Parts: sequence; C-alpha cells; structure tokens
Amino acid sequence: MPSIDDPNYLNREQHYADAGVYRLDDETALVQSIDFFTPVVDDPYLFGQIAAANAFSDLYAMGAKPLTALNLVCFPAERQPLQLLEEILRGGFDKIREAGAVLIGGHSVDDAEPKYGLSVTGLVHPRRMITSGGARPGDLLFLTKPIGTGIITTALKGEQLGEAEAAEALQGMAALNAAASAAMLEAGASAATDITGFGLLGHLHEMLINSGAGAAINKEDIPLYPRTRELAACGFVPGGAYRNLKHFEEAVNWTGAEEEKAEWLTILFDPQTSGGLLIAVSPQRAEALRAALSRGKAEGFQIGEITGDKAGEITIF
Ligand code: CO
Repeated sequence: MPSIDDPNYLNREQHYADAGVYRLDDETALVQSIDFFTPVVDDPYLFGQIAAANAFSDLYAMGAKPLTALNLVCFPAERQPLQLLEEILRGGFDKIREAGAVLIGGHSVDDAEPKYGLSVTGLVHPRRMITSGGARPGDLLFLTKPIGTGIITTALKGEQLGEAEAAEALQGMAALNAAASAAMLEAGASAATDITGFGLLGHLHEMLINSGAGAAINKEDIPLYPRTRELAACGFVPGGAYRNLKHFEEAVNWTGAEEEKAEWLTILFDPQTSGGLLIAVSPQRAEALRAALSRGKAEGFQIGEITGDKAGEITIF
C-alpha cells in the first residue's frame, strides 16, 4: 500500500491496524472497520450475531463507540431459502441494536457461498483513543474472552462436538466487547487489540511490534473454552493456526516441555472469531481495570506482562 500522509489519518503509522481512525475535529475522530466471512455455525441467527459482534470488535478495541453499520451480504438466492438470509440479518440487526448503533443500509451480491458481516463506523475522542502501540514494560496483560473458537468450530464442522457442548464458545463469539471496552477506557489502559484471525500470539505480536516491547505469557493462566485442549490434541485444528504459527514462530520463545510445544502453539495461534480484547495496563491501574470489568459483567484474565525484551518477542512460561 502506498503511504498516506494525511495528518487527519491518525493511526496511519500503525502496523496491522484493522480499523482506520480519521480526525474530524479536536474532539471527534471517526473509527471505521469492515469484516465479513462464511458461516462458522449452522444456526443462521447465531451466525448473524457472531458476524456482527466480530465486526464491532475493532471499534471496541480502540475505545470507540459504535454509531452506524452497513450490512454486507453474499447469498446464493436461487439455491438456498431466503428465510435463511432473513435469520442471518435478524441476528446481525439484534447485535447492532445491542451495540447502540443504527443500521443505515448495506449491499448484497449473489454468490455461491453465503457470507455476512458489517461495515461499521464509531466515534472516539482523538486523545482518548486506545491503540495497540502504547504498551510499556511492566504493564500487565489481560484477556477478556477465552481462546479456542477456531478449534471448536472445526470440531463442530467435523461433527465431533454437538452445539450444546460448544455452547460456551458460541455465546462467547456472539458477545460484544462493549463492556470490556468501556472498562479499559475507564481504567486508562495503555494499549489494546482484539483477538481474531492471527490468534492470541499473532495479535499480541502486533501489539508488541507497535509498542517496541516484548511480553512474557504464562500458558496456564490463559483461559480456554471447554474441551479446547482435548480437541486440539485430536487434530481439530484449522489450517489458519498452522499458517499463523509459520508466520510468527520466530517471535516465540518456548520455555516449557518440548513434547507439549506443538499442541500448545496450535492453541495459542488458533484463529479466533469474535475473540476478546487483549489489554495492557500499568500495574497501578490494574485494580481499577479489574473493578470496571466486574462492574460491567465482563471477564478479565491476567495472562502475563509486557517486558523490555526485543520488540515483538514473546516468551511463554
Ligand atoms: Co481486529
């Protein structure tokens, strides 16, 4: 991409930014993002909810408040009942409303494989916006949803897991990161990102590159959706996990038992759909973050800390 030097494009120097931030005036910046994908679950209403929650996640990661949404739809209208599409859109609509945003339009294309998502716009104060580039050595790292949705949806597709057994992960994917976002703004977090396709370690690496820092993670502190380890051990690992691993492996310094390494890394690089926020916060503000998360009924698992190691380096204990 050519470099863009418009001074109002506020996060132009960030690597891997999912959302673009554009300053309108000293008090207001637009945050815009777009995401859509093929169904991750059979239930069309649930898929709509998950796709919409996922699309808003990039706004929440920056501390932005959702304002408007546009539907993005691909659907094989001649081969599949339109009622299916109605259910997908209803799921999305309910999530948009829950986010306090307004659906103001959209676009649909006849396509062999259904896809759904949103283009979203939010507002943030230019000086209060949180990016992935502000983490400092000593900051504590919090994760607000468990990991494992790629592995669990792979097992669902392989019919090795029923929807009832996957309920926790399905609800997790459909949940907005709204409360976590409000909590990190209130507590004054240093940096944040949302966990999606690059997996926990891929998105952590992005935060570390942008912050010029390293991190130490304790794998036993990482929350996993039920049965994630067992399913990973049985090989229900999506291809994206291996691609992430190959791409980011050099950044990872594994200190545990060698025989556990491969299985753990597939989990830590498992691509997440609508994952949680990864938040870096100074130790002095960590208690305020915990309190704000719990008031908002959001979870927050402390998984490690930011270090002065080489930029991007992740040590796993
Ligand atoms: Co993102």
